[in-house]
Amino acid sequence: MNHLIDIKSISKEEIINIINLAKEFKNGKKESDVKAKTLALMFYENSTRTRCSFEIAGQKLGMNIINFDANHSSLSKGESLKDTIENLYFLGVNAVVIRHSLSGIINNVMSQVKYPIKFINGGDGTHAHPTQALLDYYTMLEKIGSVENKKITIIGDVSHSRVAKSNINLLTKFGAKIHLCAPTYLQFENFEAFNVTYHNDVKSAITDANVVMVLRVQNERHDKEGYPDSSEYKRLYEIDSKLLKEYGAKDVILMHPGPANRNIEVSSELLDNNVGKTILEQAQNGVYVRMAVLNTLLKGDSNAS
Ligand code: CP
Repeated sequence: MNHLIDIKSISKEEIINIINLAKEFKNGKKESDVKAKTLALMFYENSTRTRCSFEIAGQKLGMNIINFDANHSSLSKGESLKDTIENLYFLGVNAVVIRHSLSGIINNVMSQVKYPIKFINGGDGTHAHPTQALLDYYTMLEKIGSVENKKITIIGDVSHSRVAKSNINLLTKFGAKIHLCAPTYLQFENFEAFNVTYHNDVKSAITDANVVMVLRVQNERHDKEGYPDSSEYKRLYEIDSKLLKEYGAKDVILMHPGPANRNIEVSSELLDNNVGKTILEQAQNGVYVRMAVLNTLLKGDSNAS
């Protein structure tokens, strides 16, 4: 594994290795192989969990972390992303984590950069968020042991969701039964190309589900595109304790990649009770999964600049 751009590009074996390594880091059984290597965090779109957990992961591994400030960098003077990253490589940076609103921009810049810096996708547009899918899978394994033949329901704004796409790509590799639920205007385009079952109705979607993964209604994208307002979404799709208890499997777990819109896609009472705590555990597991990703990509890497 040279870079981490999307789940499609990595094998089942590579995913298992990352999960096992994350487990070792979490249990304190593994030492860092990447001490003193340098990681640059290049976030062109806002983030709390991904950015902070990469920073904490790097710190726990003894790495040097550069919080690249896009607003105060020479990008504002017209420097390209390719030139910026090549300069960072010559400053001694081993890897970059990029978050960007444009789908595919990381593949695009990676194909232009001539030097062996490692690329990690921290979420690009509606394309992919591979470390989110890895930490979600890790959390599911902790909670339910295996995803094989389990019903995993992803509810919400699947049309704009890089998290949904990365999770579908990962979980289907491990035999999960994926169910998507969204109003027609937030439906995944060409979902028929994926091995999923589609529901308009929330009750049928969560019936006997082992995992209910709720996605954020991405209001910032809808405002520009003339979608119905979120009160209509709330009326039909908001998940609360009563729905989950009545329709979900006996030990159903609730997940959400965050950030959550309280009382829109998920009720505040559910977020704050014990079932909602899994969402915080997802964020916590993100640190160990990202440690595993950094250690895997950078072990043995030498920036010869
Ligand atoms: N889940 C996730 O990507 O959260 P952030 O946008 O806060 O990083």
